[in-house]
Amino acid sequence: MQEVAAKLITRHREITSPRTFELLGLDWDLLPGVYAPHLSQSSALYAEWLPYPLHGSFCEVGSGTGYISVLAALRGCASVTALDLSAAAVENTRLNAVRHGVDEVVHTAQGDLFEPLTSEDRFDLIYWNSNFVEGEPADALERAFFDPGYAAHAAYFRDAAAHLEPGGRLLLGFTDLGDENRVRALAAEYGWRAVPLRAAKCAAEKGHIEYRLLEFQQR
Ligand SMILES: C[S@@+](CC[C@H](N)C(=O)[O-])C[C@H]1O[C@@H](n2cnc3c(N)ncnc32)[C@H](O)[C@@H]1O
Repeated sequence: MQEVAAKLITRHREITSPRTFELLGLDWDLLPGVYAPHLSQSSALYAEWLPYPLHGSFCEVGSGTGYISVLAALRGCASVTALDLSAAAVENTRLNAVRHGVDEVVHTAQGDLFEPLTSEDRFDLIYWNSNFVEGEPADALERAFFDPGYAAHAAYFRDAAAHLEPGGRLLLGFTDLGDENRVRALAAEYGWRAVPLRAAKCAAEKGHIEYRLLEFQQR
């Protein structure tokens, strides 16, 4: 599991200047140090699986390049809030919102999980394609892969309810490279029950990786 993450991190470190990539038939900006969606088979899956709330509000935690936030706007969300700990990711999301003409719909902010929000900010859907491996990140790029002690996951479950509209939905993109049982147990501590929405096994260098879109519902 660490080996797969290490290989992916090495491929990210080869990206040392701004460039573009193609995903879902569209071109996207990519800044160095930002999680590169075209290097993972999960990116197209999550883009298709997400139940974007039509005319509603969408919040993406950890937006990275912002391709999901931009797609949410293009697919009819009335307002999109894209948050990331990484300043480079926030700038990358802004660039892609401008590139695709949705910068008036996609609002970006930098900070730890929901910290940039006010208590008034509530959403029909909150989503995080999380840094799913439990471990110590060496730098900002590795924060896209590792969550020490799953502390950020715990905080996600602790704080999300305060930012959901009545009937709002809480989603998490996760993989079998992470410890899903541990994450489910953390969620349960804050009253959430995991409901698998979609899953797909993709061929990998050694065996396969399973990508999962999980919904968390209040017990
Ligand atoms: C696996 S990447 C996903 C990026 C993007 N959503 C995508 O699917 O391509 C996880 C993202 O979460 C961000 N992140 C990690 N910890 C965070 C935290 N505590 N608060 C906000 N964002 C965080 C990382 O900087 C990274 O951009």
